Amino acid sequence: MTKIISLFNNKGGVGKTTTVFNLSASLANKGKKILLIDFDPQCNLSIATIGYKEFAEYLERTKEYPFGRTIRAFAQPSLQPTQSSKTYTTQPKYQLEHQLNVFHNKDEQTLIDVIAGDFWLNSFADVLTVGTDVVQGSGLYKFLIPFLLVEKLKEEQKVYDYVLIDLPPSFNTLVRSALYCSDYFLVPCTPDSFSSYCVNLIGEVLPSFIEDWNQGRKRYETSNKYDEVIPSKGQPKFGGWIFNGFDTTTYTSTKERKEIGSDRFHLDKILDTMKYSLFPKLRGIPYYYCLPDFVTAEPAAKIEDLNTMAAEIQKLNVPLNSLSSYKPTMFSVWSKSQKELIRRMNQEYDSLADYIINNF
Ligand SMILES: Nc1ncnc2c1ncn2[C@@H]1O[C@H](COP(=O)(O)OP(=O)(O)OP(=O)(O)O)[C@@H](O)[C@H]1O
Ligand SMILES: [Mg+2]
Repeated sequence: MTKIISLFNNKGGVGKTTTVFNLSASLANKGKKILLIDFDPQCNLSIATIGYKEFAEYLERTKEYPFGRTIRAFAQPSLQPTQSSKTYTTQPKYQLEHQLNVFHNKDEQTLIDVIAGDFWLNSFADVLTVGTDVVQGSGLYKFLIPFLLVEKLKEEQKVYDYVLIDLPPSFNTLVRSALYCSDYFLVPCTPDSFSSYCVNLIGEVLPSFIEDWNQGRKRYETSNKYDEVIPSKGQPKFGGWIFNGFDTTTYTSTKERKEIGSDRFHLDKILDTMKYSLFPKLRGIPYYYCLPDFVTAEPAAKIEDLNTMAAEIQKLNVPLNSLSSYKPTMFSVWSKSQKELIRRMNQEYDSLADYIINNF
């Protein structure tokens, strides 16, 4: 069964896109088939995975591709009864380059496919209306574009274990859509004072999103008794959070590597907000269990500050677990300490992948 997972935080720059990219590579290395959906009008995931040049080609609208070959080609025609929705997947650049020696699957379906994003998603977000489409129940399917896309790909024999959706830093209608479609959502957080505030906000906003869906669903069900899709959506579960971009130091007394004091302070603050603010609010959501038993207040993964390596990931279009086999662009070779950090953080992404495989 395909699991749809959204990377979500209304705070910007916390590592949603970076996590999607690196996590997809870890899941793929464990033999899982992955679809990445760029549902953010900023299109950072598309640029990071397939590169500027190829992305520009996918955006291009021609006679053959009137809506380009991005998510738009699926989403925009779905709003117009005379048009038919199309799907165009592409592959991450590094995967195309290394298909044979990295993945050993020359005759199989590629392990990671990407649905490119589109700046047009901004206009799409404006077309989606919460009051009429969701609460009144008259356009619930409009809010299920990522799910419907996955179903369409299934019909085309493209079946995935995990679909990772990258989202804008917002609570807008795109984010709602992705959450209504998702089985789980993961929340990356950075060590700063706004993060715990944002976690708190998620606890305020998510229950109201679900309440809106449930109202619409009930209205919809009275005249659509046999529809099985709508009653099964609008139930995203909190899959855990990721502490991203903190610094560590090795304490001389214990020889233990730990987060530096100020980052520990922020970590503790987020832990408290999880336990005493977010979790009670998620438990209060009716109709389904939004907070699964396997989730604790502790982060599901702790990703340290990757420094220049974060920029190299974007420049080279290569996820962390393949980075050391590429030549860095900003200096001549990877240093010993950089290689060591890459190795340790790859382990962390791998254990996040295991966590997902074992629990989701
Ligand atoms: N662990 C990390 N260490 C160092 N830099 C990081 C780390 N994670 C992400 N970054 C960098 O921080 C910036 C923001 O990361 P990213 O784009 O993944 O965040 P985001 O949450 O997707 O942002 P947005 O909300 O704008 O979509 C990027 O420049 C990225 O390279
Ligand atoms: Mg992003």
